[in-house]
Amino acid sequence: MNQERGNWGSNIGFLMAAIGSAVGLGNIWGFPYKMGRSGGFTFLVVYLLLAIFVGFVIMMGELAMGRKTGKGTIGAYHTLSKNFKWVGWLAVFAPFVIMSFYSVLGGYCIEYLALNLSNLAFAGAEVMTGSDLFGAMLTNQFGCLMFTMLFMVICYLINRGGVSGGIEKFNKVGMPALFVCLLIIIARALTMEGAVEGLKFMFVPGYAVKAGFIEQAPGFLTVLATAGGQMFFSLSLAMGAMITYGSYLSKEENLVKNSGIIVVADTIVATMAGLAVIPAAVANGIQNGIPFAEIKLSGPSLLFVTLQDVFAAMGAVGPLFGVIFYLLVLIAAISSAISLIEVVSTYFMDRAAEKGKEGNRPRIVLLVCLAIMVEAAIVAWDGLGSNDMWVPFQNSLGVVGAFNDCWLDFMDFWSEGLAMPLGALLMSIMVGWEIKPKTLLDELHVGGSSKIDAFFSFSMKFVVPVIMALILVGQLNDFLALGLF
Ligand code: PFF
Repeated sequence: MNQERGNWGSNIGFLMAAIGSAVGLGNIWGFPYKMGRSGGFTFLVVYLLLAIFVGFVIMMGELAMGRKTGKGTIGAYHTLSKNFKWVGWLAVFAPFVIMSFYSVLGGYCIEYLALNLSNLAFAGAEVMTGSDLFGAMLTNQFGCLMFTMLFMVICYLINRGGVSGGIEKFNKVGMPALFVCLLIIIARALTMEGAVEGLKFMFVPGYAVKAGFIEQAPGFLTVLATAGGQMFFSLSLAMGAMITYGSYLSKEENLVKNSGIIVVADTIVATMAGLAVIPAAVANGIQNGIPFAEIKLSGPSLLFVTLQDVFAAMGAVGPLFGVIFYLLVLIAAISSAISLIEVVSTYFMDRAAEKGKEGNRPRIVLLVCLAIMVEAAIVAWDGLGSNDMWVPFQNSLGVVGAFNDCWLDFMDFWSEGLAMPLGALLMSIMVGWEIKPKTLLDELHVGGSSKIDAFFSFSMKFVVPVIMALILVGQLNDFLALGLF
């Protein structure tokens, strides 16, 4: 059946690709900061519980849906369900929209990589501060557009190579390389004077407030919703990515074990990313007399302002660490982006196959990338709101800057804020109550995992829907600044 669709060359190749999808910008700029401000170690425990009872369960469910049906997201929902057929569309819409800004951020990474490379080549040249640099980059609209396009060209070249010839090949080299870069940066970061303050911010419960990084610790429901939203985005769930990747996996492989490995690897890399960025950012802040409350520890500013300042302050070796760091972020961004592109491309490939034709992969991938480029052009031109472009519904809820402050926020709301949690909620209801867990358990038993039945069924039926509903409300609360809790 899968003969013409293509397959992963090996289980390890599949794992590298799935981990590559999971490990992305979300790990580097989301996890460490959210952990720090939400109670350090306490957050980690909540995150791990959610990862086991919700993330791991959905991961198994998605991989099983893909492999059982041998189809991409839309085809899988169509084959399995009567009432939830349309959910597949949600899970193709979300990755398409996410790519509108993921590609722009990927473009920024290339620009910073190039910049550090040139600083390395022309040692002694004056280095701009992170914020001056970032500001200049965002308002150079044409430049942003070009770098976004370059990022998309790289992704296109990988995706057109196919599942094993492109995606797997890239990740088999990219993931180990990312890991090595991460270790180098961690070693440098942890030996900086004052780094221990960053470690305390990340791990010691209550330290973020006590030391003055933030004013007030969030309440438990907020922590739960934050950890849930983060876990979800980080594991690439409800975006069709794991359904799609699962559909290319051989029938012999053990999905339970594979799901466990992906969840554990993603969490380890997120924690490691924290060790690489937070201590360095905090140490540099201390050395320059910046109050803790003013150090930017999350989002684009962390990557493109705070850390660039860290590298600039390191003297002659700074650009070298800058090159290593932005290279690792770029690899993380590419490996996630190609999984998002593959979700959309696989749909068209499958559609061609249904009509009895052989899908022309290079052409399909090209069209998908071009369509993404159109929406990405708007986000790139907007420059995170720096260029005063009109944004739909801007401040429409009366909260200045809370919703749709810029085009990236607008796109992020519909995808990460709405489509992702809603899709996962509906998926769990479909599996738990319509088609019943048994349908997927057969698939999960392949390879010898049979002790999973009670856990999978119970979680899918009761735990996942409740937590997903909470995460959905949490995301809306957050994105729309509703102030519910
Ligand atoms: N997991 C990626 C990250 O942490 O940045 C983002 C992502 C990639 C989400 C692919 C969803 C997806 F399908």
